[in-house]
Amino acid sequence: MQDSLDVNDHGSTAGPRRTETLAPDAVLRAAEMLRRGGLVAFPTETVYGLGADATRAEAVARIYAAKERPRFNPLIAHVASVDAARREGVFDESALALAARFWPGPLTLVVPAAPGSSVCDLARAGLDSVALRVPAHPLAHALLERVGRPVAAPSANRSGWVSPTTAAHVLTDLKGRIDAVLDGGPTAVGLESTIVACLGAPHLLRPGGVPREEIEAALGRPLLAPADEAPRAPGMLASHYAPRARVRLSARRIEPGEAALLFGPDRPPGLEQAHAVLNLSESGDLAEAAARLFGHLRALDATGVDVIEVAQIPESGLGEAINDRLRRAAAGRAPDAENNL
Ligand code: TXA
Ligand code: MG
Repeated sequence: MQDSLDVNDHGSTAGPRRTETLAPDAVLRAAEMLRRGGLVAFPTETVYGLGADATRAEAVARIYAAKERPRFNPLIAHVASVDAARREGVFDESALALAARFWPGPLTLVVPAAPGSSVCDLARAGLDSVALRVPAHPLAHALLERVGRPVAAPSANRSGWVSPTTAAHVLTDLKGRIDAVLDGGPTAVGLESTIVACLGAPHLLRPGGVPREEIEAALGRPLLAPADEAPRAPGMLASHYAPRARVRLSARRIEPGEAALLFGPDRPPGLEQAHAVLNLSESGDLAEAAARLFGHLRALDATGVDVIEVAQIPESGLGEAINDRLRRAAAGRAPDAENNL
């Protein structure tokens, strides 16, 4: 049975590989692939992750190769439970409170690595901290339980492209480079997890699926902005999430041939001449907009337009994370590989 698994246990190059699409009932097979050092994309409630056994450096190395990540950035280690997370990291009072309130869910905690942490150095990029998350998606949970080890998983897209929210997005970017994608349908949240560092006073490293206001309410104090000397989340570099087309924010007028990404009922002038139009949420619902954001960006980009004009989106709640991703998309894809995750 094991021999029928087409996983290359040797070498750390990206492929070529035959990429299988696995139905949800094949979660056991997906877990076996991961345990044997394979690369398996899987759904979480935020976006699809590209998973590898976080305890094996040679498996983790394949993630970077498949994504064409130019540098070894630290990855999030996904685990099935708070108990499993506490074996990997040291949780202070704040971290415990946030884990109790938001796990399983779209929150990642960066904490000091536990002395016996099984997450390999490469997955932590040599840092003495570790990023941990207990995802809420039932398929992710079932997979992690069966793997029985932390699974390192960045978003399952090529470096510098928007994160995938469907199995089809994953295949567009990574077909032939990974062993399988576990297809759990479209993801519910649509934005990556919020990342909070608990290495002292809690810092917000990346806005995401849990709004800042909810985290601050749980902590009973405001989150600090990342200090200059604090460990950076390299995913925060300006060029992340860039589609091919130029993205312009706060569209007031649509020029002929441009694409429009709307929010709410407002119709900017020139809309009738747009090449393509999509709405993140007709009713102005930020959760719906978050879930649709990356898919709509991909869909408009795929029409071949040169410019995507994006309507203004409120900065409250999930709007902070949506605007953060849109600003990065608008910053464009830097030719500088250093900035290109
Ligand atoms: O929703 C998500 O978070 C998705 C799903 C798959 O879980 N994952 C995801 O991973 O967005 P990725 O690799 O695209 O983003 C992880 C971020 C990066 O910005 C990385 O630099 C940061 O987490 N990070 C990881 N470990 C860190 C550490 N020890 N200190 C600071 N930042 C860290
Ligand atoms: Mg990513």
